[in-house]
Amino acid sequence: MDYTLTAQIPDSPSSLILPFFKGETDTDLIQKLSGITFLPEFEGKFKDTLVLFHPEKQLKIYVTGLGERKDIAKAPQVFRSLTFRHQENWGDCPVVYLPHLPSELVYAAALGIGLAQYKNGLFKTDIKDHKEPAPVHLVHIAPEAATLAEEGFITADTQARIMQIMDTPPNTKTPEWLGRFATESAEKYGYSARVFTREELENQGLHALLAVGQGSMYPPVLIQLEYKPDGLDSQSPQLGLVGKGITFDTGGISIKPSTNMHFMKSDMGGAAAVIGAIELAARLRLPIHLAGVIPSAENSVDAKSFKPGDVISSYSGKTIEIIDTDAEGRLVLADGLAWIQKHFSPEIVIDLATLTGSCVMTLGYSAAGMFTENESLAQALSHAGKSVHERVWQLPLFSDFEDDLHSDVADVRNFSGKPVAGAITAAKFLEYFIKDHPQWVHLDIAGVAFGDSEYTKMRAGTGYGVRLLTTFMKQLISQQ
Ligand code: BES
Ligand code: ZN
Ligand code: ZN
Repeated sequence: MDYTLTAQIPDSPSSLILPFFKGETDTDLIQKLSGITFLPEFEGKFKDTLVLFHPEKQLKIYVTGLGERKDIAKAPQVFRSLTFRHQENWGDCPVVYLPHLPSELVYAAALGIGLAQYKNGLFKTDIKDHKEPAPVHLVHIAPEAATLAEEGFITADTQARIMQIMDTPPNTKTPEWLGRFATESAEKYGYSARVFTREELENQGLHALLAVGQGSMYPPVLIQLEYKPDGLDSQSPQLGLVGKGITFDTGGISIKPSTNMHFMKSDMGGAAAVIGAIELAARLRLPIHLAGVIPSAENSVDAKSFKPGDVISSYSGKTIEIIDTDAEGRLVLADGLAWIQKHFSPEIVIDLATLTGSCVMTLGYSAAGMFTENESLAQALSHAGKSVHERVWQLPLFSDFEDDLHSDVADVRNFSGKPVAGAITAAKFLEYFIKDHPQWVHLDIAGVAFGDSEYTKMRAGTGYGVRLLTTFMKQLISQQ
């Protein structure tokens, strides 16, 4: 997206976006810029918009409500919504006027305007000739404004790419396709990616990932990412990210009901967040060493599919009794977690997964479920989540739930068989595979990765996790 940042309004603007926090509307400023003396009431409530027409010039003014100052984390949504609804009518010189606001708003405006460029109509055939939007002119005087604008637009671009892969249909988005996406991102933005094929997974013994993928015509892969900026002296990564990459979840032989099954193309939301976070860290050249691991498979129904009752092995060597083939995410993550420990031993490990319907029942669409025994990590992630409005909420890893993993024939089973605490028992299962790691966090993002919004008629990718993780990385960097 083309833009400029200036200290003053450029000559002959065609439209002017003029935001205010609630209760802070500056009537003199509106009068001066709009040429209108008698103004209607404007409180500045979140996403409220008042459109004014200059009496003498060809100029539209969008007076826009940012809501309460304490909700500044939601400001990008205001700009995204306004841009999405009105950009077509902005003319050739749209200006966002911000000098009366904190410089953070430059970032919020850039991010929101950038995100509004994402249109979820990839496979439509009747799209009219796409017109490139006119460059946007941001106005602010702070010295840091240029960096903030650039970071906002870059973040929007990566988040939109991540929303795009979430919305890509499952007959396009196979595990190998996801591997190619990551490889192209790595080549373009300066980090490394390696895709392990089914044959290599067989040789290395990733039995759990292979079992989940064995009923699909698309072979499973493991995608390994690493970002190590030049000049950073580091042996093992500070942060390792593991993302569930199920490109479609039918439930397998324990098949899901067909209503809304099409939404299960979003079962790679963890993978998307991991690719997005590492891509963005690389684009922003953050001084941190990162590793990413994405076990990716399609959970399909076939004579070759794994079955309830099967006992499988795993990369860690532990055996697993399959009770329900729909509890497949924890199986691929078991191999992903074992892999990242063996090959990278990162200081901190965070896994992200659209893991359970139970987490959606618990927290709805408002926050990811967060599981960890490490309280300082929990606090750091809560703080990061609040600051970018990608919230997390802690749930327990009580030992009470250990019995639920008991199997008579194998080391563990993959489902308790009980209709209670499904998000917790899933997290306990993962813990079993990374038990000794002192700094591990599991994020169940089933409710937040894919959802309803004003931008689509059906659910769509949200880009959740990218900013949560990059903000967390910045916190780690600043603590060094
Ligand atoms: N991918 C689903 C979880 C999910 C549900 C994600 C809704 C997004 C929205 C996962 O693989 C699954 O099917 N989990 C089962 C586990 C159960 C069989 C133990 C669930 O949550 O019902
Ligand atoms: Zn499932
Ligand atoms: Zn799943």
